[in-house]
Amino acid sequence: MFDLLNDCPGLAPWLEQTAELSGYLWDKGWAERNAGNLSIDVTDIITEQSACAADPLCRDLSFAYPQLAGRYFIVTGTGHRFRDLAHDAPHHACVLHLSDDGRVFHLVWGGEDDPDFRPTSEFPAHLRVHEFLRQRSAAERVVLHTHPTELIALTHLPEYQNEAALNRALWGAHPEVKVTVPRGVGLVPYTAPGTEALALATVAALRRDHPAAVWAMHGIVAVAREVMEAFDLVDTLNKAAQIILLRRGAGVASPGLNDAQLAELVRLFHLKD
Ligand code: 13P
Ligand code: ZN
Repeated sequence: MFDLLNDCPGLAPWLEQTAELSGYLWDKGWAERNAGNLSIDVTDIITEQSACAADPLCRDLSFAYPQLAGRYFIVTGTGHRFRDLAHDAPHHACVLHLSDDGRVFHLVWGGEDDPDFRPTSEFPAHLRVHEFLRQRSAAERVVLHTHPTELIALTHLPEYQNEAALNRALWGAHPEVKVTVPRGVGLVPYTAPGTEALALATVAALRRDHPAAVWAMHGIVAVAREVMEAFDLVDTLNKAAQIILLRRGAGVASPGLNDAQLAELVRLFHLKD
């Protein structure tokens, strides 16, 4: 019997990082109940090619993803607590393989003891983002969706329901935001979870050259090369949102760093903005 973890030792570090991430998300309060999900394109570290027809857990996708044909992904399970990944990945995540026409997937690892195991309900968004990354031959392979509290709260305020205004506020909160996210985030107006409309709007936001798309009144999708890089991105942005809300709570109406201070950062750090 083919044992994926034994045959593909490159998988273990990704699962370890996923476990570490799940603890951080729980500590941050960004992963209540089953909130949040993760996918990682691990195609380059999987050595086994298995036939879809032989797998009883073969599933149809709602759409075809020909550019993802034959690729492998670590994906978290729908309805599963993200925090449980820390101690039991085989029951709460899986590795799945997309068929050669990109219309069907089957599990090659994980989803254990649950015949109804399904990948995250946000799989449409994850797949569209991976498709976009492949179209660009991008180095990014991690797609993280989580519910960062203060960032979500910010999108409830009418003045930040506009991408330019949201980014200006985030950059103004502390210098690291401009330095690490010089092009800012994309803002996706509220769209129902799990839908193709949300998936397409997310890709449209990333196409504007943003490393993350904020889903108004819901959460964020961050794209990165490494799991911790995705976490750090969300952490930096949410810290900025906390500062903005604290400042408002203190009754101070200020944009924080002014335009000259932001321009100085662009110059000093040779930022592409
Ligand atoms: P899943 O449990 O399906 O991953 O959904 C969590 C979530 O955050 C939906 O947006
Ligand atoms: Zn969500």
